[in-house]
Amino acid sequence: MKTDVVIIGGGPSGLLLSQLLNRAGVETVVLERSPRERVLSRIRAGVLEAGTVEMLQKAGAGERMLREGHPHEGCIFSDGDLMVRIDFGALTGKTVMVYGQTEVTADLYAAQDAMGATILHEVAEVAIRDADSDAPFVEFTHDGARKRIDCAYVAGCDGFHGVSRRTIPESVRREYERVYPFGWLGLLSRTPPAHDELIYANSANGFALASMRNPMLSRYYVQVPLSDRVEDWSDDRFWERLKSCLPGEVAETLVTGPSIEKSIAPLRSFVSEPLRWGRLFLVGDAAHIVPPTGAKGLNLAVSDVFYLHQALIDAVRHGETAGIDSYSERALRRIWKAMRFSWSMTMMVHRFDGEDSFAAEMRRATLLHLSQSETARRDLAENYIGLPF
Ligand code: PHB
Repeated sequence: MKTDVVIIGGGPSGLLLSQLLNRAGVETVVLERSPRERVLSRIRAGVLEAGTVEMLQKAGAGERMLREGHPHEGCIFSDGDLMVRIDFGALTGKTVMVYGQTEVTADLYAAQDAMGATILHEVAEVAIRDADSDAPFVEFTHDGARKRIDCAYVAGCDGFHGVSRRTIPESVRREYERVYPFGWLGLLSRTPPAHDELIYANSANGFALASMRNPMLSRYYVQVPLSDRVEDWSDDRFWERLKSCLPGEVAETLVTGPSIEKSIAPLRSFVSEPLRWGRLFLVGDAAHIVPPTGAKGLNLAVSDVFYLHQALIDAVRHGETAGIDSYSERALRRIWKAMRFSWSMTMMVHRFDGEDSFAAEMRRATLLHLSQSETARRDLAENYIGLPF
């Protein structure tokens, strides 16, 4: 087999890249480890920046999102009963779209199917060969046979645990990491959302987030120690903790119900530089992880795709390599700014075990400042709705 670009990973970033390349006449093959149903059962964040919304439209995969997604004009930060609204519309002129990553992925699969793109599922033992030469190829096992695809470029969209980053020699890689001493326990329920906007709640019992997917589907999170397991948390225990973290007026009217899904995610900041090694390019979680606090994970993968798709089109179609030469540097500039924002949001709203009373006062003062300073709110809003590409 032979193609222009082999894309490792059939999650949202791999599919979006494939979609944009195919539409520009660049051929791709997408290799995905899991069956499609499993990819589509992963529940991830649900807030899309305006730039992400535009990219999905550009890819011809934005129709259902525009119809079924929910534009949000603001969100709330709280500390106990103090609630501060960040008015995205008034502060930045932009909004975000509440639409689940799972739905984005489903729409991208539909768009890829419609144009007859090649996506191979249940692919195992992927090896990227000769990425530092002019003739890279990818080997893998599919349908019980060992196969090979020759290509011009390889895009590593295979997440934190994928093979792509590890293909870059350790001597070339620089890695930066911060692991936070807690995780988020998430719960999905068929109940009306606690509030019409997201609430990032700081409290004496730790952090909680009240989010949503639609008017009858809510997504909530509470901060938990890393040693906790999902089995430790009955639905009742979850609801009780959530209520104790939310502002009183919101907790009072909270509608609870049985969970549809419950899972724990650890929080981590991670960057691996550079994003390019020869003809291999890293995209999204393969190169960087943000804690979910700023909802930047998918959005950051999409900005990588923004830089890379144009660069690959220029290289494959026109033999013009300036874009691929500057990809890593351009993408990293934006990545580090999103890293900073996600880290500062994480520090602003979580309780750290064993912290002193000073730390809690600092968080409360940050919120008070936010409540009184439009400049502070605008800074937060500008980052939350997404920095320009
Ligand atoms: C979610 O709805 O799953 C969600 C929303 C905002 C975040 C993180 C997760 O910051």
